[in-house]
Amino acid sequence: MRVLVTGGAGYIGCLVVEELLKNNHKPIVFDMFNWGKEAIEPYLDQIDLFEGDCRNSRDIIYALEGVDAIIHLAGIVGEFACNSNSKAHFSINIESTRTLINCCTDPELDLVRDFIYASSCSVYGNVKGLYNEVTEETPTAPLSSYAHAKLRSEQIIFDRMKAVPHFHPTVLRLTTVFGWSSRPRLDLVTNLFAYNAWKKGELSIFGDGLQYRSLIHVRDIARAFVQTLEAPRFMRSGKIFHLGEEKNNKTVKKIAEIVKEQLPETKINMCPGQPSDRRDYRINCQRLKNVIGWEAEYSIEDGIKELIEKFETLNWDWESDKYRNSSFKYI
Ligand SMILES: NC(=O)c1ccc[n+]([C@@H]2O[C@H](COP(=O)([O-])OP(=O)(O)OC[C@H]3O[C@@H](n4cnc5c(N)ncnc54)[C@H](O)[C@@H]3O)[C@@H](O)[C@H]2O)c1
Repeated sequence: MRVLVTGGAGYIGCLVVEELLKNNHKPIVFDMFNWGKEAIEPYLDQIDLFEGDCRNSRDIIYALEGVDAIIHLAGIVGEFACNSNSKAHFSINIESTRTLINCCTDPELDLVRDFIYASSCSVYGNVKGLYNEVTEETPTAPLSSYAHAKLRSEQIIFDRMKAVPHFHPTVLRLTTVFGWSSRPRLDLVTNLFAYNAWKKGELSIFGDGLQYRSLIHVRDIARAFVQTLEAPRFMRSGKIFHLGEEKNNKTVKKIAEIVKEQLPETKINMCPGQPSDRRDYRINCQRLKNVIGWEAEYSIEDGIKELIEKFETLNWDWESDKYRNSSFKYI
């Protein structure tokens, strides 16, 4: 398949590109390259590249030429980055989904039948005291503008599906990602803890640390996108799947302790008075495993070990804003 990957040069995207190539697909990377092209450099002779903005239908229409499927990853990620870039957040995280969907289903253009959207389990907010476990049927209650945008994008996609025969979208609601990718992100809880423990010998937990997070390794994510795309349409069309692993449902405190097991000198600072991320949920991930047959391969321990090895061996400027979406100024 010729697969358009929006955000294909990002943290998740570069590994999706690698996984598509491994499975003999042709990736077409569509990206604004906010973080540069380094992460996909090893594949440049095997992929097509489009530098464009997915808010712009002109850019998209040209990139869609001959495309069989779309994996839509482009976006502003995380609550802080969305709040501090509110106009870009609205136009990229909501309106660009509409633009992309309109272009790939417009009767004047060739229909792109298969579409996978990277949503987020943030849409559930805080379910403490309400539900022990969250399934795809659990009512959503987003707490952030980022999570609201994910839900609105899902709605745009499914509304269009009702109007367009043979359009087969799938929504993957991702749990929080961790682990190494050639476009590393050090602003995600596990990666941040691993980095601070390695660099400073200490890490800080805001709040009581008892809030649950659901985690998944970035390489497992990439494999799940490709496996879902390859699954027969009747299994995935119009469906929502959680993308995660129940074994990785951990409290923030436990994540810190796992980091400390690998870097035993680490001091864990409890900061109960500091405002913390209010999300709290344990995600049930059976549907994707049962229907698509995907399984996670990497543990949290594996991910942390590899991150520490990279910090040790690569002489990169780890303090750079390039590795933290929260500091980026989106236009
Ligand atoms: N990382 C996570 O924990 C996580 C969890 C749930 C969902 N997601 C979703 O997965 C997707 C990818 O996240 P990531 O962690 O790889 O982020 P990232 O910031 O590393 O990658 C996003 C990519 O999108 C590109 N981009 C941004 N705006 C664009 C635009 N208007 N047009 C074209 N390209 C644009 C950026 O240049 C970047 O390469 C996002 O949609 C995110 O919401 C991520």
